[in-house]
Amino acid sequence: MADEAALIAGAQALFKKRHGRDADLAILAPGRVNLIGEHMDYNDGLVLPMAINRSIALIAGKREEGSDGLRVFSADLDQEVSIDYAVADPAAASGWAAYLVGVVALCQKLGMQPAAMDVVLVSNLPHGAGLSSSAALEVAFATLLETACRSPMDPWQKIRLCQQAENDYAGMPCGIMDQATVVLAKAGHLLLLDCDTLVTRDVPFDDPNVSVLIIDSRVKHQLVDSPFAQRRQQCEDAAAILGKRLRALTMHELDARREELDAVNFRRARHVVGEITRTADAVDAIAARNWELAGELMTASHASLRDDFEVSCSEVDALVNTCEALGMKAGVYGARITGGGFGGCVVALVETNQVAEIEAAISAAYRVETGLQAEFIHALPMAGARCVDDCRRD
Ligand code: GLA
Repeated sequence: MADEAALIAGAQALFKKRHGRDADLAILAPGRVNLIGEHMDYNDGLVLPMAINRSIALIAGKREEGSDGLRVFSADLDQEVSIDYAVADPAAASGWAAYLVGVVALCQKLGMQPAAMDVVLVSNLPHGAGLSSSAALEVAFATLLETACRSPMDPWQKIRLCQQAENDYAGMPCGIMDQATVVLAKAGHLLLLDCDTLVTRDVPFDDPNVSVLIIDSRVKHQLVDSPFAQRRQQCEDAAAILGKRLRALTMHELDARREELDAVNFRRARHVVGEITRTADAVDAIAARNWELAGELMTASHASLRDDFEVSCSEVDALVNTCEALGMKAGVYGARITGGGFGGCVVALVETNQVAEIEAAISAAYRVETGLQAEFIHALPMAGARCVDDCRRD
C-alpha cells in the first residue's frame, strides 16, 4: 500500500509541475509474478500468478480545446508520445507507443469517444524482466479510457482487448495470463486460472511466515522477435502431429507416442504435460500450507523450463542453483524462472524471517558468478488494476 500511495503522490506532483494544474484521474495497474504454470496459457493449461506491489500509475487530466488525442509523458523513459484519436495508426507506432495505439484503437472500435487528455506515466515496475510491464501498460490505458468515457468494460472484454493490442499492435503472440492477472487479481490471493475454460479461483496466500521473493537477474528479455513465438509454434506442431491438445494428454500417453514427434517437439510437449500436473499439485500444496512440496514443485518446474522448454539462460540458472544450494536450512523452499523467459526474474518461495539473509547470500554469489548485481522485490499479493482517484466535477 505504501508503495502504491507513494507512486501516485509522486505522479500527481509531476503532473502539476508539467501542466500547472491538478489532474482528474489516477489509475494504477500492477505487474504480476507467476508462481507456477509457465508457458501454459497458450496451451490451455493452468497458471498460478499474483499481482504484485510494483505498478504503473497514470495521472490524467483533460487537455485544452482544439487538441484531440492523448499526450503521454513517461517519467521513467523521459519521453513523450502523442496519439491522435483520428489516426491511431499501428504502422506509425513503435516501442511502448504501439501498446497505447493498440488500446486506443480497440477502445474506439467499441464506441468509446475519450476526451483529449494529458497523461503522466510513472512506474516502479521493471520492464523486460518478466513481470508483465506490457500487460500493466495495456490494462492501465484501457482502464483510463473506460473511466474517462464512463463506459466500463466487462472484465473479460477488457482482458481480451488488451491481449489483442499486444498480439496485433505490438506483434507479441502472448497468451491470456498476464492481462487476466492484471485485471482480476485479488489482494491476499493467488489467481488460479484455467486457460481452457477461463474459470478462475482465488487461492488465499496469507501465511505471514512465507513470502514470495522476486530476484531480478538484470538480464533483459525481449519477447517480441524472441523464440517465444517459436515455442508456441512447436507446441502447436506437437499437438497437431498427435491429433490431440497437449492439455488432454497424460504423461503415460505422451511417452507411449514418443516416436511420432521429433526430439525437440517431444521435449516441448513433455514440459507442457508435466507443468499442468505440477501446477494442480502446487495449488493443493499451497492450500494445505505444505510449503516444502510447493517449493519442490517450483524447482522441478525450473528444471523442465531449462532442459525441456529451453527458455532459461545461464544467469537465471545461476540464481536458481544458489537458491537450491541454500535450501530449506536457509529458508528457501524452491525457486524457478518466471514469465516468458530468456532472462528476467526468478521467483522464490522463502521463509519471511530469513528474507534479509537470503537476499545477501544470493546477491554475493551472483556477483561472484556473473559480475552482475541482482535486484530483489519482496512481493506481496495485490489487487488488480483500478481507478484510485476520480476528481472530475462534470
Ligand atoms: C509471457 C506471455 C504470457 C505467458 C508467459 C509464459 O509473459 O505474455 O502470455 O505465455 O510469457 O508463461
